[in-house]
Amino acid sequence: MSLRIGDTAPNFTINTTKGEITLHDWAGDNWVFFFSHPADFTPVCTTEMGRTAQLAEEFAKRKTKALGLSTDTVKEHLAWIEDVNDTQNTTVNFPIVADAEHKIAQLYDMIHPSESSTATVRSVFIIDPNRKIRLTMTYPMSVGRNFDEIIRVIDALQAGDANKIATPADWLPGDNVIIPPSISNEDAKGIFPQGWDEVRPYLRLTNIDKS
Ligand code: BEZ
Repeated sequence: MSLRIGDTAPNFTINTTKGEITLHDWAGDNWVFFFSHPADFTPVCTTEMGRTAQLAEEFAKRKTKALGLSTDTVKEHLAWIEDVNDTQNTTVNFPIVADAEHKIAQLYDMIHPSESSTATVRSVFIIDPNRKIRLTMTYPMSVGRNFDEIIRVIDALQAGDANKIATPADWLPGDNVIIPPSISNEDAKGIFPQGWDEVRPYLRLTNIDKS
């Protein structure tokens, strides 16, 4: 069965471009952006690896560690990383799992046989410091992911955890947020002293940057 939001991210020990890692130990008290790509030396994947490397500071600001995966070997990954660095004008410093035996791909259901029986699709798992899966996303092989959205959803999850709020469509940091219906007006007075705009009784907007 597929992994779901709220599940504990299955632990594993595996060889990567930065040596052997055990997921839960390597993660420490960080968030993890764990993502698979179909294959080394392919065009879309090259841009995705480059973009992840370019965003290293943004991930670090959010206490988030990136971890890539494909069913290639460490030797192939290391040769490809040179190409990624050259062509995307960056330096890949995050580990890429070498899952040539498909052990982790199967554990995380990253191989979708209608696409390929050997290569992983573009899966994303955002894992929090309690090892819980907080987001899953699956993109086909032919479509590169939107990394601004990856950063945005980490921001939204972290803002939600810190402030007991939900975020509306297309939310970006600084925008108004939603007081969840599970919080009564009585309780909201204590939690959101800055007040809120009641558009409907079930749609209350506030701004956590003005509290
Ligand atoms: C790519 O990264 O360009 C790619 C990889 C596998 C299938 C299709 C595209």
